[in-house]
Amino acid sequence: MAPEISHIIKIHDQEFETYIHYESILERTNEIANRINADYAGKSPLFIGVLNGVFMFAADLLKGINLKAEISFIKLSSYQGARSDGDIQELIGLKENIKDLDIIIIEDIIDTGETISHIIKKLKQLGPASLETVTLLLKPEVFNKNIPLKYVGFKIPHKFVIGYGLDYNGLGRNLKDIYQIKDARYQ
Ligand code: IMP
Ligand code: MG
Repeated sequence: MAPEISHIIKIHDQEFETYIHYESILERTNEIANRINADYAGKSPLFIGVLNGVFMFAADLLKGINLKAEISFIKLSSYQGARSDGDIQELIGLKENIKDLDIIIIEDIIDTGETISHIIKKLKQLGPASLETVTLLLKPEVFNKNIPLKYVGFKIPHKFVIGYGLDYNGLGRNLKDIYQIKDARYQ
């Protein structure tokens, strides 16, 4: 494999450095897709992606799914700046009746777990047959919820990341690779 070249970019007031290259993201994403294909063989799950951050991961993950699957998206409150403030709004956009369906929530990143625990609580009230989560990124140092996360792409340190769907104050979502903030004060 060719050596991975580190690249530094500036977004707003912060510098970010390449952290996970797209090739690695794709490789890991395909592994997860294969596990889901095996675990859900014979089933027809409904994937629910959490916008906006998940759009790239959802697209690549679903390309590896060979099940008779459906995909839908939901949206929550916007995330302001580089720190999570625990302010979570309503869940919008779910048109499907999920009662008795096998649901797989797709997340880009789980930080404290506030967002995902809120989504799980809301979706459980709608009576799905099963409910699991797939997240590309997890920050285990801050995740403080007692929620089983079945499929995790990469466990990463408590440092802010952007790219591949993830933003810093609206910018950076279109970057192909994942970048990590250089200033250690910004977690
Ligand atoms: P949690 O509720 O603390 O788990 O935060 C989850 C949400 O915060 C994610 O869906 C992202 O929108 C956002 N978030 C958390 N960490 C980061 C990061 O490092 N980069 C960009 N967004 C992040
Ligand atoms: Mg998100």
